[in-house]
Amino acid sequence: MSEPLLSVHGLVTTFHSDDGVVHAVNGVSFDVHPGETLGVVGESGSGKSVTMLSLVRLIPQPSGRIEAGIARFHTDDGSVDLLDLSEEDVGAIRGGEIGFVFQDPATSLNPVMTVGRQVTESLRHHRRLRRRAARAEAVDLLRSVGIADPENRFDDYPHQLSGGIRQRVVIAIALAGNPSLIIADEPTTALDVTVQAQIMELMKKLQAERGLAIIWVSHDLAVVAGVADRVLVLYGGTVVETAPVDELFANPQHPYTRALLAAVPSPDAAAERPAPIPGTPPGFSEEPASCPFADRCRHVFDRCRLQRPGLTEIGPNHGVACFWNVGDDRLRHDVPVVASREYVP
Ligand SMILES: Nc1ncnc2c1ncn2[C@@H]1O[C@H](COP(=O)(O)OP(=O)(O)OP(=O)(O)O)[C@@H](O)[C@H]1O
Ligand SMILES: [Mg+2]
Repeated sequence: MSEPLLSVHGLVTTFHSDDGVVHAVNGVSFDVHPGETLGVVGESGSGKSVTMLSLVRLIPQPSGRIEAGIARFHTDDGSVDLLDLSEEDVGAIRGGEIGFVFQDPATSLNPVMTVGRQVTESLRHHRRLRRRAARAEAVDLLRSVGIADPENRFDDYPHQLSGGIRQRVVIAIALAGNPSLIIADEPTTALDVTVQAQIMELMKKLQAERGLAIIWVSHDLAVVAGVADRVLVLYGGTVVETAPVDELFANPQHPYTRALLAAVPSPDAAAERPAPIPGTPPGFSEEPASCPFADRCRHVFDRCRLQRPGLTEIGPNHGVACFWNVGDDRLRHDVPVVASREYVP
C-alpha cells in the first residue's frame, strides 16, 4: 500500500472545567491513504468530532487541550506534524490542503456574503488568484459541484438556496483550497434522504476526478457502507475496531461493532425498530484503565475492568481492541494493554 497521507498516532484530547477533566479522545491512532475514504463511526459522544477538530487545531478554547499525539500529514513541501505546527502554518493547511465539510451548511457559510464571493475569497486566500481569475475559477467550481447555472447563482446569499445546494457550495469552498484530504463530519445528516444520496454521489465523483482522500464521519452505518473503503469504529474516545468496509460488515469482532451492526434496521424489516444497545456511553471523567465498553458488554469479565485493551491485528488491515475473542468464545492472549490498574490472571 502507498505511504499514508495522514498518520495519526496516540491522539489524546481533554476538556478542563471546574467539574474536572473530560477525556474526549483517548489515544486514537489511524492512517489515511491518498485517494481513499476512511469512514469513522460511533455513537454520539464517542469523540468523532473532537478527533477531527484536534487534527486542524480547532478545539474549543480555553477548556480544550491536545495532551499527546502525532498527526503526520504529507504536503507538497514535505511532511509536517499537524499537532506541532505554528498557528499560522496550521491556518494555511486548514481550508487549503485539508478541506472541511461540516454537518450544517447553514452555519459553515457566511449568511451576509454571496456564495460566489465566499468561493472566490477562498481561492484568493489559498491559491493567491487575482480577482478576475478567481471569479472564473469559482464559477467553474460551482459548476463542478453540480450547481446549475452557476453564473446566476454566484450572487445569491446562502438563505436563498436549498440545504442541498448550500452543502454543494460548502464543498466548492473546500475544493477551492486544492485539498488532498477532505474531512467531512456528518456532511449529509441535516439533509433529506434523496439529497443525502446526491451529495454522496457528488463526493465520490469528485474523489475519482481529483484523487482526494476523505475522512467521512457518520453515526449512520448505511452511509459509511455506501462511501467508505475502510472503517474506524470509535467508542468512548478510543478506536475499538478498524477494518476494510466489507470485512467489517462481514466479520465484525468487537462486541460494540456487533451491537452497532445489529442495531441497523435491515431493508426487509423496515418497519421493525432497531435493537438498542443497552446501557449508556461512558462519561470519561477519569483516565480509563478499563475497557470503555465494559459496562455494556455481554462478554465482560474481570480483566476488562482492570486493563484497557489496545488494538491488535487479527487479520489483514483488521484491528480490534478486545480481550475476548467473540468468534470462538476464548480469551485473546496477545492483546497489548494500554492502561492498567491491576490484573493477575
Ligand atoms: N467544548 C467541550 N467542552 C467539554 N466537553 C466537550 C466539548 N466538546 C465535546 N466535549 C465532550 O467530548 C466528548 C466527545 O464529543 P464529540 O463531539 O467528539 O462526539 P461525537 O462522536 O462527534 O458525537 P456526535 O455524534 O453527537 O457528533 C463528549 O463527551 C463531549 O461531551
Ligand atoms: Mg460530532
